[in-house]
Parts: sequence; structure tokens; C-alpha cells
Amino acid sequence: MFARAYRQNRKRTDDIFSMTVAEAYHDAPIPLRHPLVFYHGHLPAFSFLTLNRNHRGEEAIDTELEELFRRGIDPESSATARSVAIDRWPARERIERFITACDERVLRVLDEGKQSDALAVHTILEHEAMHHETLMYIVHQLAYGKKHAMRSQHHDDAPPRSEAVSIPRGIAVLGRAPDDARFSWDNERGQLECAVEAFAIDRFNVTNAEWLAFVAEGGPTPFFWERADGSWYLRGCFERIPLPLSWPVYVTLEQAQAYARRQGALLPTEAQYHRAAYATPYGETRSYPWGESPPESRHGNFDFARFDPEPVHAKPAGASAWGVEGLVGNGWEWTSTPFAPFPGFTPMPTYERYSIDFFDGRHYVLKGASPVTPRSLIRSSFRNWFYPDYPYVYATFRCVR
Ligand code: AVJ
Ligand code: FE
Repeated sequence: MFARAYRQNRKRTDDIFSMTVAEAYHDAPIPLRHPLVFYHGHLPAFSFLTLNRNHRGEEAIDTELEELFRRGIDPESSATARSVAIDRWPARERIERFITACDERVLRVLDEGKQSDALAVHTILEHEAMHHETLMYIVHQLAYGKKHAMRSQHHDDAPPRSEAVSIPRGIAVLGRAPDDARFSWDNERGQLECAVEAFAIDRFNVTNAEWLAFVAEGGPTPFFWERADGSWYLRGCFERIPLPLSWPVYVTLEQAQAYARRQGALLPTEAQYHRAAYATPYGETRSYPWGESPPESRHGNFDFARFDPEPVHAKPAGASAWGVEGLVGNGWEWTSTPFAPFPGFTPMPTYERYSIDFFDGRHYVLKGASPVTPRSLIRSSFRNWFYPDYPYVYATFRCVR
């Protein structure tokens, strides 16, 4: 069963690499990240290191490549990025031999199906799934001439009228109970009950149309927008399209906060997001905004159903108990909460530094999912985090008052 999940993950990784031309292998379309070649080696290397080397204590394949591909980077500036950049990458054939060897060794362990491997196995499966999204952010920034366009239908609509939904004071439940046997990352563990005062929250994400009005007042231009011959365009993943007015605007946290300030509003805290998404008027907490049924495409825009957004009001079936829409999918949602551990935090034994390096007060929590968040990562406790000025992530927002 896990072998099948691993193979499916590897297939999606291969599919993403197949979207790029061979000449792009050493390109770093996001200057704050390693070039594509790193991710090619990183995914199998991380799996092999986590499962075979660290968990099982097996012997190495190639210690030099294992070290090179062990971990990615998250520099704060392009100056820091340059100082951690690798000047020379090994030949592609050598990397491909290493990848094949890693996959073979990982699958040998997975085929045994031992219960005692479960935590390490989940760690490698979710790690690769997260990188599918990371890879798509990077592929997005590659010039259109360097990738093969995936066929896609873009759907725009008249933007909905913005509306606020009132949420009474009550409890928001964050995190995962310590006795919950399902896999979750260390930063999700611990159950935190937060008392949240009454607030009002936007029913929909802020749209490109609303941001356009902000730009007319001097607001900043979103990173994915482009101006040409007097019109606005969106740099979609595989093509530039006339700016779809009903789509959620993708912006940085700093830009989102500037917008909110202008409206006399704020961004939701992590607890407010949880209350809007998972709490109910009758006091129960839901597993998903729409209830208990597993995520399907009618609930939101996630799991690679498309590579770009859809209208903010496209999925009423995904509304929360309060009628707040689009909370999971169509873009991560920025919160105003710095990424920090829940009480009782202990690092993942299978990936000690997964979270702790980012509890620095300079990364902020994002919730929900984007069009390219794999379904396996969709759960209420999942927390994403980025710097407040990181423009590459598919992240939108809504305001609270
Ligand atoms: C959780 C998406 C912020 O990409 O930096 C991948 C996930 N950690 N490999 C990131 C991660 C290590 C992480 N995010
Ligand atoms: Fe990684």
C-alpha cells in the first residue's frame, strides 16, 4: 500500500519535471531557492536518508550526493541566497543513477510493510507531496518558452459582491490531539483551544477586481500581474491571460496587510481562521469546512484539478457552517499569526528540523490549500509558513473586522 503511494508520488514528481525543457535543469527561476536539479535529487535522497539511513540504519549509496541533496534553503534575501548557492552540480547521468538507487532501496523497505516504519514512511510521503507544490511555484516562474503548456480551461465570472459574515464569540480548536494516531507534522501536534471574540470575516477571498481598485488608489502591484498595452494580465502557470477579475488575488502578507489597513480591517489570526472554517453555531468542530466527507473537487480548487485559480465563489459546496467560502483551496490564506509551536511541542523524530528552524518570529502561518496542494495534505491542522514578503507562493487572503 505504501509502495503504491510512493510510486504515485514519484510519478507526479516525474510529470512535473516533464513539464520543463532539459535546458532548464540548472535554472533557478526563484532566486531564493536552489535550481531544479536540486529538487530532482532532493526528493529521493530525503526519502532514502529518512527511511533507510536514519530510521533503518542502512549503509549509504553515495555520501557526497546524500549530503548535497539533504536539505533545501530558505534565505531571507537574494544576497544570502548567493552565499549558499552551489556553483557546480554533478552530471545529470550521475544524479539519475543515484535517484534510481534511492528509489530501489526505499521500495525494498516499503515492500516489507512493517508497522514500525510507519512514521518514517508518512514523513517521506508527505515531504514529497509538499514538494509537488513547491516545484509548481518554481515551474510557474520559468519562462513560458522553457516549459510545455498543460492544457487548461480558465473560467472567469462576474466577481461577487463582497460581504461580511458575523461569527459570534466562541472556541476555536487548533492542532491535533496528542492521542490522535493519524500522521501529522510536529508543528500540528498539541490541542490548543482558543477563546475568540466575535468578529466579522469576508465571505470570499479578496478578488483581483477588488485589488484593482486598490491599485488605482496607489496600492502595490501583485507579483503575478503584468501590465501591457494599457491592460492588466495575469501570469498564469502556463500562459499569460487577461486579468480574471473574479479570481482570488495572490499577494504577499505585507501587501495583504496594506490592503486591510486601507479598509480599516485586519487579517485573520490563525484562531479566527479556524473558527470561521471549522467551528459551528452548535458548538461542534468539523473536520473540513463543509463537514466530515473527504475532500472532493466540488469542495474546492486543490489536488491539481487545475494549475491556476477559479472564481472565489465557484465552490459553494465547500462553504463552512457560517457560509464562508473558499477556505480550503484556490490559494493558501495568510494569517497574521507568526509561526510558533503549540504547547508541549516536540520535534519530529523522523525530521528533527522540519519546523524548529522556522520558529523565528519571521515566518507567518498560512492555512487552507492552493490549486496544486495534493489532497493528502488537506486536513484542518495542517500549517504552512512563509516570510511575509515571499511573493512566489499561491497565497490570498480575506479581511476581518
Ligand atoms: C512547509 C512548504 C514551508 O517548502 O519550505 C519541504 C516544506 N520542508 N522540505 C518548505 C518542506 C522541507 C516547507 N513548507
Ligand atoms: Fe524538502
